[in-house]
Parts: sequence; structure tokens; C-alpha cells
Amino acid sequence: MTLAKKGFPENFLWGGATAANQLEGGYNLGGKGLSTADMIAHVPKELRKGGHAMDITSDRIEQILAGEIEERFPKRHGIDFYHRFKEDIALFAEMGFKVFRMSIHWSRIFPNGYDEVPNEEGLKFYDEVFDELLKYGIEPLVTLSHYETPLGLTQKYNGWAGREVIDHYVRYAETVFTRYKDKVKYWLTFNEINVMLISPYTGGGILVDKVDNKLQTAFQALHHQFVASALVTKLAHEIIPGSQVGCMLARMETYPKTCNPEDVRLAQQENQINLFFTDVHARGKYPNYMARYFEENNVVIERQPGDDEILINNTVDFISFSYYMSVTKSASADEEEVAGNLAGGVKNPYLEASDWGWEIDPIGLRVTLNTLWDRYNKPLFIVENGLGAYDKIEEDGSIHDTYRMDYLRKHIEQMNEAINDGVDLMGFTSWGPIDLVSMSTSEMSKRYGFIYVDLDDAGNGTLERLKKDSFEWFKNVIASNGEVL
Ligand code: BG6
Repeated sequence: MTLAKKGFPENFLWGGATAANQLEGGYNLGGKGLSTADMIAHVPKELRKGGHAMDITSDRIEQILAGEIEERFPKRHGIDFYHRFKEDIALFAEMGFKVFRMSIHWSRIFPNGYDEVPNEEGLKFYDEVFDELLKYGIEPLVTLSHYETPLGLTQKYNGWAGREVIDHYVRYAETVFTRYKDKVKYWLTFNEINVMLISPYTGGGILVDKVDNKLQTAFQALHHQFVASALVTKLAHEIIPGSQVGCMLARMETYPKTCNPEDVRLAQQENQINLFFTDVHARGKYPNYMARYFEENNVVIERQPGDDEILINNTVDFISFSYYMSVTKSASADEEEVAGNLAGGVKNPYLEASDWGWEIDPIGLRVTLNTLWDRYNKPLFIVENGLGAYDKIEEDGSIHDTYRMDYLRKHIEQMNEAINDGVDLMGFTSWGPIDLVSMSTSEMSKRYGFIYVDLDDAGNGTLERLKKDSFEWFKNVIASNGEVL
């Protein structure tokens, strides 16, 4: 019998994760076209009804384009990484990052999404970013599509609802694979692909007021994304020898509230719907349990001849996911509801919640790592995890974010446990190593970073970067390969 592995593997990829639309800014610079993310306004706290207001209507898009809406659009400006990437990457290097997860803003390369020729200035920008990372020995991990569909595709095809978008995505992927083949080895096809079921606008650039049946459209659009993901996985392998392509899931580890079999079955069903996405990517086919779900929900997926072969022949090399919290479900209608990342549930009495109501559950990460490893036996990559919290700057400019270190420490401990359980874990990129615009609320005050950015919810600030206490802490975590926590 071989002994259990101890500790993190030597080549473990430690780093941070970001998305272009929450970070870059420069939304109208360098030939970039508009994306769906550029249309998302900041909603002041007093007007917010809670939860996610992520789907917007076609009328609103028209009004925004006509300049009739006087609101702020924080994702257009991000934290100005577009101009400050050298300074920011130097800080990541100082922390010892081995990997940096970022996305390419599709509309920087193909401004309308359906253009025939790519935008050279956009391509040049990412050349410079990758060169800067490689200068410090930091591997780029690149998401092709992170909540940022070119607006042109939304206007022309209603986003991923249109099968035509597959070809445009494949052309985009082929362009960037060819251009960056010597610079980028790790790729992710779609960020949190399961968000489509919650917000088709966020996940697929789909305006739901233009469709009759939201669920049907969401699953059809997902089918297009699955096929597109498989096609570009094949392309990456052809264009970039040795490349590794992963899918990306917002993992919702779901617990039953009690041992009442009704609760247990409900939690099982929730887990199945969540794992459906990785099942298709890793096993190359739709799982049996979805047939009944589709029937009961009147979903009929239109497939073209050859789709099944594309899926089965081009499964992913690894599985990546975000993990912030677990979810608890109850079959009873009398339970208190709680918020969460993308999906909420009922209150878990054993867990504490973040300032945004997300229930913190480090052991759930170990559970999820074991679940995914047992199910697929493919390498896993945690590409998002972290604590969104309010930070306070002291008079001397220091920021004592002990809560953030505490959150990460407990999750890293559980990663270590999972590795000792036998899980093959490639790496860990903490979400938002530098403060950036929140995806769900477009706030700046929901901060995840080791690096503070002087910018507030109203868009005021110098954009100056400051190191929080967690900066030095994470640096030591990486230097000790996870031993000093
Ligand atoms: C994930 C997204 O859902 O969670 C990120 O992939 C996002 O884009 C992150 O920023 C944290 O969510 P939020 O809403 O706190 O920014």
C-alpha cells in the first residue's frame, strides 16, 4: 500500500484570479467594442432589493446606447489595469505568484463579435500583458469568456441563443490560440458556465425579454456553449501542443437541511443539476438524469448531426471551479432563506456568513474536491475562492484584514486535507488578488484583494495600490508551498 501524499505538490500553481470586465477598464480604448458587461450599471445600496439583478432588457440597452440613462457603469472602468498592468503584475510577482488567471475581453479582439478581422491593437495589449507575466515566470491561465459577450452578438443573434455564435467563438479562439501559442498553455473555455440558468444575460448575452421560454432558451444556449467548448478544446490541442484546457463551474456543494429523505433527495437533485455541466465537459455526453428533468420541464434541445461526436471526442483536460460557500436545501417551505453566490438556500445553523450573507464553509471545499475527483478522476483546479469584505484603512495606511487571512487559511487547510485524501489538485487562484469591481453588485467596497485599490462605490479615488496585511501572509504561503499558514 502506498502512503497518503502529504502536503502540496512541488509544482503546485499558486496565484490569483480576475476577469477583464471587472479589472481592465479602457472599455472604449484601443479599438475595443462594447460588451454586455459594459451595460451593467452600479445600483446604489439604498435602491438594491437584494440578490442579483443581472438580466437587463432590450429597451434598456437601447436607452443606454442612446445616452438616455444617467447611471454609472463601473465595469467600463474597472481598476484601470489597462494602463497599470505593469505595476500590478510586479506586485503579483512580489507575492511569488506562479500563475495568474485573467480573461481576454472578447470585444477587444473582435469588437462586434462577428467581425471578419481581429483588432490588432487588442491583440497587442494581451501580448504585452502575457510578456510581462512571463518576465516574472508567472504562467497565464486564460478564460476565453468571462461574463463579457460582445454586444454585437447580443444585438444580432440574441447572444448564445443563436447557434451562429459558435462559429464566431471558434474564430475568436483560433485567433488567440494562434497568436499566443508560445505564451499561454492553460485555457478555460467559459467562466461559471452554469450561470446561464440563473442569468442568461450574464452567461450568454441573452436578452430574456426577447424569448418566450427562459429555461428552454438557457438550455439551448448551453448546448451551443458545450459544443463550442469542445470544438475549441480540440483546436487548442492542435494549435498549442501540450496545452491544457479546462471547463469552469460555480460549484454549489449542496447539503440536505436534515436527514429527512425528502431533504436528502432534494439536495441530491440540486447537486446533479450543478454537476450536469462538468458531466458534459468531462464525460462528453449528457447524463441520464437530465432526460427526466428536461421532460418534466418541457425542455427540448435542438442538436445538429455530429454534435454528440464533438462532445464525446473532445473532453476537457482538467476541471476548474469556483468555491465560496456551500448551499443548504430543505423540502420544507418554512425555512429561513439566505443569500449566496448566484444561488441561495436555507440557513445552515453550523455556518457563519460573510458580510454579503454567503455561508462560509471550508470543510465543504474538501467535500467538493473529493466529490469531483471521485466522479471524474481528472485533475482539479480551484480558480476562485476568497472573501468579499469591507476593509478599513488605518491612519498610517495599513489594512489589517485578519478575516481574509482567516478565511483563506481555513480553506487552504482543507485543500491540503483533500490532497492527502488522494485528490489531484493542480492549483489555487484566489479570487481578486487585487480589489476589483464586484460581479454581482458592481460595488468596489466588496473587496477580495491582498492589494487595496483606492476607489470607492461612487467611482472616486486615486486608484493608488496599497498592500494589505494579507499581502505578506499570502507571500509566505506561496514561499512555503502552503506549509506556513
Ligand atoms: C464568481 C465570478 O461568481 O464570483 C466572479 O466568476 C465574481 O466574476 C466572483 O467576481 C465574486 O462575486 P462578486 O459578486 O462578489 O464579485
